[in-house]
Amino acid sequence: DQYAIGIDIGGTGTKYGLVNHRGDISYRGSNIRTNEYDDVNDFVDDLYKELKPSIDAVGIENIKGIGVGAPNGNVYTGTIDFAPNLPWRGVIPLAKMISDKFGLPCSLTNDANAAAVGEMMYGAARGMRDFIVITLGTGVGSGIVSNGMLIYGHDGFAGELGHTIIRPGGRKHEGTGAHGSLESYASATGIVLTAKEMLQQTDKPTLLRNYPLEQIDSKLVYECAMQGDEIAQEVYRFTGQILGESLANFIMFSSPEAIILFGGVIKAGSLILDPTKEHMEKNLLNIFQNKVKLVLSELKEADAAILGASALVWEKREV
Ligand code: BGC
Ligand code: NA
Repeated sequence: DQYAIGIDIGGTGTKYGLVNHRGDISYRGSNIRTNEYDDVNDFVDDLYKELKPSIDAVGIENIKGIGVGAPNGNVYTGTIDFAPNLPWRGVIPLAKMISDKFGLPCSLTNDANAAAVGEMMYGAARGMRDFIVITLGTGVGSGIVSNGMLIYGHDGFAGELGHTIIRPGGRKHEGTGAHGSLESYASATGIVLTAKEMLQQTDKPTLLRNYPLEQIDSKLVYECAMQGDEIAQEVYRFTGQILGESLANFIMFSSPEAIILFGGVIKAGSLILDPTKEHMEKNLLNIFQNKVKLVLSELKEADAAILGASALVWEKREV
């Protein structure tokens, strides 16, 4: 078998594996905590240490290359440019660094674009020509497919929908300085901020009050919401409202067949999906109403970005 290495770099963790032509992933790993590496060289070194045993197991001659999906990754240049949610500043020539370290060709693209390709080849977007994948994790990203092609734009950064302004003058994004961007509300970080704001604004009883403020993370908000905690559920309703309003805008921009939600935040299932759908429909021009499917990625273990990144290795065309 021939393999590609697929790597999905997230703001919090990095996942990787060997992928064959059928999209089966073997030797998966997720031991790298991205946000613990101040120096990108150390990150690449540890990634190599993690993957070396699997490379040896199948033989490096059977590996065709490496595909990477990264926040603010650019397929034209193989660089990560000014990522607000990564510890590395400036322009990082990551594809070249990885290629030098591993002794294999490496291509890099935006993580959400990789997720869109993964969904198109193996997931919820199979057979679709027009769809948008929204990734909801440490950051909020998107991959926009129109007429069967990913939109790249002039500089290759098209589809930074997480940084569109949905609440002008609203919450400040610590990484970008912008006020009221979708990412500052609908990311895992945004959900935590919303929970903290709500705690400070209400006297209502809530499980969240059993914890010191600095211990509140998105997992805790999720767990409390699942236990029926009203404030935690309110956090998801508010997040869903903002996301739904944004999706309505995106739909009117490119008229997709479906919006596919992907990433850690969707673990909340209908807690986030129901309010999102409600506010999406409410804000759509009538010609779009009740037409656009809103679905959660069903690829197990959130593999879309690893699979899409590995596709960079198989495909001659840019993906
Ligand atoms: C970045 C995007 C990325 C998204 C998800 C955003 O902050 O600007 O490029 O796709 O986070 O990681
Ligand atoms: Na993108």
